[in-house]
This record gives sequence, structure tokens and C-alpha cells, in this order.
Amino acid sequence: MINPMDLAGRTVLVTGASSGIGRETARLISQLGARVVLVGRNEERLAETLRSLDGEGHRAELFDLSSADEIPRWLKSVTASSGPLHGLVHSAGIIKLCPLRVSTSQTVEDVMGINVKAAIGLARGFCQKNVRASSGSIVFLSSVTGLTGQAGLSAYAASKGAIIALTKALAVELAGERIRVNCVAPGLVTTEMGQGQLSLLTPDQGAALKSMHLLGFGSAHDVACAIAFLLAETARWITGTTLVVDGGYTAH
Ligand SMILES: NC(=O)c1ccc[n+]([C@@H]2O[C@H](COP(=O)([O-])OP(=O)(O)OC[C@H]3O[C@@H](n4cnc5c(N)ncnc54)[C@H](OP(=O)(O)O)[C@@H]3O)[C@@H](O)[C@H]2O)c1
Repeated sequence: MINPMDLAGRTVLVTGASSGIGRETARLISQLGARVVLVGRNEERLAETLRSLDGEGHRAELFDLSSADEIPRWLKSVTASSGPLHGLVHSAGIIKLCPLRVSTSQTVEDVMGINVKAAIGLARGFCQKNVRASSGSIVFLSSVTGLTGQAGLSAYAASKGAIIALTKALAVELAGERIRVNCVAPGLVTTEMGQGQLSLLTPDQGAALKSMHLLGFGSAHDVACAIAFLLAETARWITGTTLVVDGGYTAH
């Protein structure tokens, strides 16, 4: 039977692979046949992800993505042993609930550093000779927060809106190099990050947020399926797009 999402023979680097959406993406794409390079800072949790993967040839790389300028050089050294990459998923990210009146430029710096500067550093690194295969697919993580307003999340919203703009700009710039660039925009997903956000709400606020997700809150697997679709041949004619995966949150 033909599987149009088969990833056999592909090597994909996944940031944020020690937790949540990144971890679930790594698991799913390994089941689809990909070799995965897992990236995160927490050695123990990366090792846990590594043990849960299907197939062989996966590896874990400890790296702090806040050193954005170091990323291209680091990617060269990683791929010198892993071989060229066919895909890159940037799932590492941070969120800071911070009302405008207490927001500082440091808040903005921190959030932009991992969510946006690292995304640009990864794309720059991915384009290098010998780092990527003859064609490639990059998937970034945006958020519905980049599409609709939510109080207390201005820096995070700006970072996720920037990812949508970055996706389009890079799709145009890199099409000639046979690199597709897309992003997914999830609604609330019950990972550590999602649960953390929910814990800051009153029960009534939490219930209201849930009711806006017409299909309920999402799981990491729901988002991983969309990411795998964008990595695979199923999306060979798709670039520059934002795939909203939000249980209907933005439908009304
Ligand atoms: N959960 C949601 O509701 C939701 C909704 C929309 C969009 N998103 C986006 O989806 C992505 C994944 O979210 P998630 O829910 O899976 O979050 P999560 O469970 O909190 O995982 C975040 C990941 O980011 C990594 N990370 C953070 N700072 C890093 C740094 N300086 N260097 C390297 N890695 C770093 C963490 O790894 P280490 O701790 O090992 O460094 C961890 O693996 C994020 O971009 C998030 O904004 C999430």
C-alpha cells in the first residue's frame, strides 16, 4: 500500500524535541520512517524522547537556541555526522504572560530570541551547502495568537505574527533552492506550555476558552500530524502557507 506521507530515507531535525509538540512530532515522523535529530537543552528528557522513537539512526543534540548566531556553524557540525537534512521543524518556543504595563524590552528580547531569531538562524543554517539535501522542507510553529488578539501576550503574539511573515518571505526567497517553508498555527494544545497557560486562568476563563475551541483543546499529536503532512510529499506544492490547527478557534 502506498503511504503519501512516507518519510523513509529522510533526515529531519526537530527543535523542542524534549517536550510537547516537538517530542510528539519526532515520534510520529519516526513512525513514518524518518531519521530524526532531536534538539533541546534537557539531556534527560531528550534521551526519553530518543528511547520512544521507532526505527534506527536517530540522535540527540544538546543546544541552547538563544545563541542564534552560533546556529549555522553548529548545524554544519551536526550534519557532518548525521548527513544532510531533508526537513527542519522549529518547535522550541517560550511564552510569557505579561500585561503591557509590566512588559520590558527584556521580555520582548527573550521571547523574540527563541521564537523568531532562532527560527531565522535555523533557516540560515539549513540553507548551507552540505547541511541540506537537494530539496527541503522547513516547518515553523506560529500560533492563533499571531492571528487573533489575546490580552497579556503582546510579545508572544508579535513573535508568532512574525513567524507568519517570515514564512512567506522565506518561501519566496528559497523556492529557487527547492526549499519549501510553511508554518502551523495551533490553538491551545494540552502540552506543558498549554497547561501552564490554562493554570493562569480562573475556572470561568478556562471554560470560556475551551468553548471557543469548537472541537475542544488539541493534543500534541493533532499538531504533529499537520507538521508531518507539511514535511512529506503530500505538501510538495505547498509553500508560504500558515496551516491553522485550532479545533475551530478562529472559525468565529
Ligand atoms: N501548547 C500550545 O498551546 C501552543 C499553541 C500554539 C503554539 N504553540 C507553539 O508550539 C511550540 C511548541 O510548544 P509546546 O507546547 O510543545 O511547548 P513545551 O512543551 O513548553 O516545549 C517547549 C520546548 O522548547 C524548548 N526550548 C525552550 N527554550 C529553548 C532554548 N533556549 N534552546 C533550546 N530549546 C528550547 C524546550 O526544550 P528544553 O527545555 O530541553 O530546552 C522544549 O522542548 C512553541 O513554539 C509554541 O509557541 C504552542
